[in-house]
Amino acid sequence: MSKDYVSIIDVKHHLGEEVTIGAWVANKSGKGKIAFLQLRDGTAFFQAVAFKPNFLEKFGEEVGLEKFNTIKKLNQETSVLVKGIVKEDTRSKFGYELDLTDIEIVGESEDYPITPKEHGTDFLMDHRHLWLRSRKQHAIMLVRNEIIRATYEFFNQQGFVKLDPPILTGSAPEGTTELFETDYFGQPAFLSQTGQLYAEAGAMAFGKVFTFGPTFRAEKSKTRRHLTEFWMIEPEMAFVKHEESLDIQEAYVKHLIQAVLDNQSYALEVLERDTSLLQNYLDQPFKRVTYDDAINLLQEKAADNDYEAIEWGQDFGSPHETFISNYYGVPTFIINYPKAIKAFYMKPHPTRDDVVICADLIAPEGYGEIIGGSERATDYDYLKDKVAEYGLSEAEYGWYLDLRKYGSVPHSGFGLGLERAVTFITGNEHIREAIPFPRMLHRLRP
Ligand code: 4AD
Ligand code: MG
Repeated sequence: MSKDYVSIIDVKHHLGEEVTIGAWVANKSGKGKIAFLQLRDGTAFFQAVAFKPNFLEKFGEEVGLEKFNTIKKLNQETSVLVKGIVKEDTRSKFGYELDLTDIEIVGESEDYPITPKEHGTDFLMDHRHLWLRSRKQHAIMLVRNEIIRATYEFFNQQGFVKLDPPILTGSAPEGTTELFETDYFGQPAFLSQTGQLYAEAGAMAFGKVFTFGPTFRAEKSKTRRHLTEFWMIEPEMAFVKHEESLDIQEAYVKHLIQAVLDNQSYALEVLERDTSLLQNYLDQPFKRVTYDDAINLLQEKAADNDYEAIEWGQDFGSPHETFISNYYGVPTFIINYPKAIKAFYMKPHPTRDDVVICADLIAPEGYGEIIGGSERATDYDYLKDKVAEYGLSEAEYGWYLDLRKYGSVPHSGFGLGLERAVTFITGNEHIREAIPFPRMLHRLRP
């Protein structure tokens, strides 16, 4: 925003002063001798009021008859320069409004497609480039931005180095069925599913690192939790065992919730998020249960619930995750899954052959998995066998095996899906609104 203009978010510092604001007309109302403009400038939304000259013996400031008529005719999303006096407005959540003294049209707007009436999701998604302007979408993006800011804050405070993994890779560490393949000068390349293997190399060079970047899964699943392109934060820590990693995960997620509560309370209000629930997640320790116990619980409670029956060895479906997290009412770690349903790089259990040292963090209120993490296998021969067993090529993973050849140490890490965290913290229904331009099974545009 130009230094000549005041941002809406800053009008509180200009009470009683005449200011100029560059904005768009989000909505317009009022009758006859009074006009209300809902203005937005990217920082916030608030109301400007214009009175018809001589209305009630000059009730407010005057804009002049010509300007008043201009205001009456303004279309939605017209861009304007408005001048006015900042007043307190105890009736609005925002707390301030503008008594208009002048207005100038900057850019006209004809037939803006997203009107205040209800629209279907497909229509809104087709107009995502415009939908982002609306109050709710704006609030979600501010929360997303706060989570990103707080992520850097947390890991910087804890002495982590940010390390950027490549996006174009030759490997498929999270399974070969979900790859986007592209031609790389005559050889196949894949869009990265995870930065983890590179983060592990980083941990051996810097001790504690985190990655943050886009990751890709060619998932055909059409659920409210899946994107084909999503952003992941992946910390990786040398000399850190699994228990300590869980403590860091809990502290990190609590830091994100606290930061959003502290710095985006207005956005949470717009989103009508029940903040007492968020506060409760801060006040309680996260629950930790083993996969075995979770299976037992699901089997025990099956008669009273309508999720599908589940056997030891199977992965949870979202109804199972929903049940578990609702049952405990706080974010819940499910620990030590069966080896057969997890990635090749996880550390085998010291006394059991059938499980690995790992955990998923399941968010409450039905939001499901937001973190997947594990301690990593450290033994060269074990991992070499796993690479072969999972049908991965040794040529592709030779560099990764090297990390176990030259000073292998215990290490752990995890991945938090940014959009899953945004969906959970904002209390939103669907992950597609947690990213500016979502990529999903049937959505590549805009
Ligand atoms: O559980 P995932 O697949 O784990 C990994 O990729 C590990 N390499 C992470 C690590 O240990 N460094 O994915 C991690 C998280 C999930 O918990 C979920 O939050 C998110 O990434 N995620 C998705 N988010 C949106 N759409 C999808 N299709 C997602 N798949 C995973
Ligand atoms: Mg997972």
